[in-house]
Amino acid sequence: MTVLRSFPAGFRVLIQGASRGIGLEFCRQLAADDQVERLVATCRSPDAAPELAALSASHGERVLVERLDVTRRAVGESRRAGAGGTPGRGGRGVGGRCGQ
Ligand SMILES: NC(=O)c1ccc[n+]([C@@H]2O[C@H](COP(=O)([O-])OP(=O)(O)OC[C@H]3O[C@@H](n4cnc5c(N)ncnc54)[C@H](OP(=O)(O)O)[C@@H]3O)[C@@H](O)[C@H]2O)c1
Repeated sequence: MTVLRSFPAGFRVLIQGASRGIGLEFCRQLAADDQVERLVATCRSPDAAPELAALSASHGERVLVERLDVTRRAVGESRRAGAGGTPGRGGRGVGGRCGQ
């Protein structure tokens, strides 16, 4: 099993494809890591992702769920504008495609 570790303090990360599969597992591991200051977890249909919603609910503001479809350009632009630079310092993309 892939295990994520050794992040610097205050690490911020955005996971695309967080509703299931490897993206959801990355989110679980990142949410459990105290070094992670902020996790933005994205998928196309947050309303249809109950496990992700439960993860967010149990971690408060540290884990935010956002709607993102990487095939829709306007949504991607909105995400970048709203993220204020997320994943931010030391950020690193894992677990999926990042679109323009
Ligand atoms: N599973 C593994 O062990 C493994 C290992 C190495 C690499 N990978 C790679 O990692 C990726 C994910 O694998 P997986 O097994 O986790 O697949 P999966 O279970 O099918 O999950 C795919 C994720 O991508 C999201 N997604 C699909 N289309 C999207 C779009 N247009 N915009 C935004 N999000 C989208 C889905 O969320 P919504 O449908 O809710 O939007 C879902 O969360 C694949 O590229 C796979 O080849 C997987």
